[in-house]
Amino acid sequence: MASKAWGGRFGERTDRRVERFTESISFDRRLFEQDVRASTAHAEMLAHVGLITADECQQIVRGLSEIKAEIEAGTFEYTLEREDVHMHIEAALIDRLGDVGRKLHTARSRNDQVATDVKLWARDGLDRIDANLAELQRAFVGAAERHRDVILPGYTHLQRAQPVLAPHYFLAYVEKLARDRDRVADCRKRLNVLPLGAAALAGTTLPIDRNHVAEALGFASVAANSMDVSSDRDFAVESVFVLTLIAEHLAGWAEEWVLWSTQEFSFLALPDAYCTGSSIMPQKKNPDVLELIRGRSARVIGSLNTLLVLIKGLPLAYNRDLQEDKEPLFDAFDTVEACLELAAVIVAGATLRADVIASRLDEGFLDATTLMEYLIKEGVPQRSAHEVIGHLVGLCVRQGCKRLADLPDEEFPKAHPSLGAGVKDVLGVANAIKAFQSYGSTAPAEVEKQLAAWKTRLA
Ligand code: ARG
Repeated sequence: MASKAWGGRFGERTDRRVERFTESISFDRRLFEQDVRASTAHAEMLAHVGLITADECQQIVRGLSEIKAEIEAGTFEYTLEREDVHMHIEAALIDRLGDVGRKLHTARSRNDQVATDVKLWARDGLDRIDANLAELQRAFVGAAERHRDVILPGYTHLQRAQPVLAPHYFLAYVEKLARDRDRVADCRKRLNVLPLGAAALAGTTLPIDRNHVAEALGFASVAANSMDVSSDRDFAVESVFVLTLIAEHLAGWAEEWVLWSTQEFSFLALPDAYCTGSSIMPQKKNPDVLELIRGRSARVIGSLNTLLVLIKGLPLAYNRDLQEDKEPLFDAFDTVEACLELAAVIVAGATLRADVIASRLDEGFLDATTLMEYLIKEGVPQRSAHEVIGHLVGLCVRQGCKRLADLPDEEFPKAHPSLGAGVKDVLGVANAIKAFQSYGSTAPAEVEKQLAAWKTRLA
């Protein structure tokens, strides 16, 4: 097929260097299952409308499934002389069936074929990513349950801010991942429109039934403009954007846990199975997996940029540039899938060092804001209450006492007459936690409700 790859139009065989430069088989062979699926649906439609006979259709469908089995078994032969996976599979079919095989490409072009295959691949990928996200959510919910009674220092600017319940902290990631899953579903909805039948760019004069194909392949609808669909890679860009945001969420979490597993924090015990040692320092236990999850986000961001730049300025319908969409798309999916899988097992196996955390909760005046709100409840304007408590914190810092509760009793009414005996009931992180009450806050009752709701949702 080499020199005759393009049929009768060409008198000269393609230069080897051009073959090497233009091939996509080295990476688009991953689309073989989707290509066979789409071709099978296409052949069945051709038979349905009478463009091929039922017997021809049967031969084609059987041939395709044998080719698929060969590819899966690793016995299928690839050659650079056949540019891509689509040509490989079709040529193998023609090798088997002769003229019957030569009918498969009726009323389609590789332009709508490749768009269909890539969409099917990305749709499968999105479904796997959703399952991975759900698994990670369940891991965070599990961590929330295991650490129900642990109080953590909450940080802003990485400075101690206010106390939070550990389940509240873990559920924050469950929420982020829920938005990721929403985005996956939304992206899938827009993706799920069938390109096949657009043919090269203008559609076809043959009496095809595109709805028949859409139904067989699980597409919700059929693309309404043939010129649009062969150039449309919005779904690829959108998928990779969704993946990028997931990668960013994972990178932020990984960074936090790298910090938490340091000697300095000592908040977190990571399972040995997900850490590595050092070739020279025998005592080391490094959080390499977390670091690599953080690092791999760079690849995904890179893939998104590649796709954005790739489609910039492309005229309508198919342009060969579009062949370059696959590697960044595949890599983004592969990378995020691997990161999600490891994130889930790390979260499932990690333990907060409750004793260390508890022993340091008196540092950082985590109860100062609660005391300020106590004053507000006593009728003091917020700005004034802020000043009063700020003054008390300043006193502590100057007198070297770690906790507001360590100040001499008389300092409180001296700072403000409303700071009476009741003050002792709000000081300290345990009291501070109990004082929360707003929806979405770290109030124990609220957190319990959220935890129960997530357990039901993810069951
Ligand atoms: N190998 C090409 C790709 O992956 C297939 C589409 C080629 N279409 C064409 N008109 N040359 O994009």
